[in-house]
Amino acid sequence: MDIRHQLKKATGVVVSCTMVFGGILQAQDPGPAGAEAVHAKNIASVDTAAVSPRPEGSIYMGGFRAPKIDCVRVAVIGLGERGNPQTSHFLSIPHCEVVAVCDLHDDATKQVADRVEKRTGKRPAEYNKDPQAYKKMLAEVKPDAVIINTPWETHAQMAIDAMEAGAHAFVEVPLALTLEDLWRVVDTAERTQKHCMMLENCNYGRNELMFLNMVRQGLIGELLHGEAAYIHELRMQMFSENRGCGSWRTNHYAARNGNLYPTHGLGPVAQYMSLARGEDSFDRIVSFGSPAIGRAAYAKKHFPADHKWNKLQFKCGDMSNSIIKTKLGRTILVQWDETSPRPYDRKNLIQGTAGTLADYPLRVAGERISPGAADSPEKGQPGGAEITSEGGYHEWYEGEEAESKLYAMYDHPLYKRLGEEARKNGGHGGMDYIMLYRVIECLHNGEPMDQNVYEGAFWSAVGPLSEKSVNEGGAPQVFPDFTRGDWKKTSPLPVIQ
Ligand SMILES: NC(=O)c1ccc[n+]([C@@H]2O[C@H](COP(=O)([O-])OP(=O)(O)OC[C@H]3O[C@@H](n4cnc5c(N)ncnc54)[C@H](O)[C@@H]3O)[C@@H](O)[C@H]2O)c1
Repeated sequence: MDIRHQLKKATGVVVSCTMVFGGILQAQDPGPAGAEAVHAKNIASVDTAAVSPRPEGSIYMGGFRAPKIDCVRVAVIGLGERGNPQTSHFLSIPHCEVVAVCDLHDDATKQVADRVEKRTGKRPAEYNKDPQAYKKMLAEVKPDAVIINTPWETHAQMAIDAMEAGAHAFVEVPLALTLEDLWRVVDTAERTQKHCMMLENCNYGRNELMFLNMVRQGLIGELLHGEAAYIHELRMQMFSENRGCGSWRTNHYAARNGNLYPTHGLGPVAQYMSLARGEDSFDRIVSFGSPAIGRAAYAKKHFPADHKWNKLQFKCGDMSNSIIKTKLGRTILVQWDETSPRPYDRKNLIQGTAGTLADYPLRVAGERISPGAADSPEKGQPGGAEITSEGGYHEWYEGEEAESKLYAMYDHPLYKRLGEEARKNGGHGGMDYIMLYRVIECLHNGEPMDQNVYEGAFWSAVGPLSEKSVNEGGAPQVFPDFTRGDWKKTSPLPVIQ
């Protein structure tokens, strides 16, 4: 019995996504009720592992190649804090043009359209004011690719509508908020044979790319364990009270309890381990949250007693901790905290039988990458063919000099190719530019996307599964196999040149 039927049985109503999210799309801001509806679905008593057979006519999308597109016609939905600056990247990327922009606010579409026109001489079509205007845009403009930078509740439906309209969909993180919606996205991609890539930009960070390169060279041996996080103190977003991400995200922190933003740390670790790509895949997850104190305290301190934030009951643990077990038995610690005053950290740690690579700050240790190896050319540079046995792994190899040696030895070829242009264009240190460059490059060349629809679904599934686990006292939750067993056929992501 698939999750849609189970939800109907568990809740007594047909909780279709068009009901919940169709309703949300009618309204500019679903408010706390939208986030509460998501939470109710995510903690419902259902068999998370249930998989219905792939419908006839649908195909497995791992490794999918779409026909080449000479010049990719890009449409962008959502021009807020993320979408506004992000749209500018397309103006420096070859083989694409921005043909339409859409937002609820006409000042946002005007600002971005003005910028595109100034840089390219061509004004993109503008769609605004109506939450459904994007559908008109899809029908009238018929873009090749749609970039979705809107609030979380809208991601799944917009991606589905974009694919149904014949476009490839590129969706900000997370891909969707419930298992039911993740399945709908996967099923739509398989039926329409359109790419649906979640835009996990952190997989294109310089250090993440370098670690992938090092892991693929076997420098840390057999992989055992990873640590992933999104630790970013963002309480100030609550000052975006009526517009901007704080205005809608804050409702999720109140109504839900789990890891609501898991993919920035997890995406890179999952690709080091080639999860859902031939080698290994996601199996189970357990999650616990700390007490939920910080958001309510912040609201009390900074907003009047009768302010809408002070009327919320914040349920989401300030620090969320999950452990994922993979099919091969590897472990991944996934943490999330946007509330506590502590420095930014994505952990980005990958540990193998021969060494460990870690970030924040960048540091490595291991039998094949030790200070001894680094400093003694006769024994090989870090990670060289020579293996030192001098116990360099008892200390981290770190610091400014270590960083520059590591970059000199192991920078990913993609970073070497695009790093300079990426730094010029900016966007989280250049990772946004590299990601969007690859999106267009893959569409132009008819190559598979670096992140397939199943990876987006697995990484995002940590949201709903962690909510369910926390609600059940930390009980293990089984990942649905979004690939229906076909992950074994998909090649690991290669080191892209
Ligand atoms: N990958 C990253 O580094 C990163 C960084 C920031 C945000 N994000 C993600 O980007 C997305 C957007 O976040 P944000 O911070 O820009 O939020 P935001 O609130 O600033 O912007 C969202 C925009 O979407 C528009 N919008 C809402 N409903 C719409 C509809 N029906 N049709 C057209 N436009 C609509 C809003 O008017 C708003 O301008 C979120 O999913 C967030 O998680 C990712």
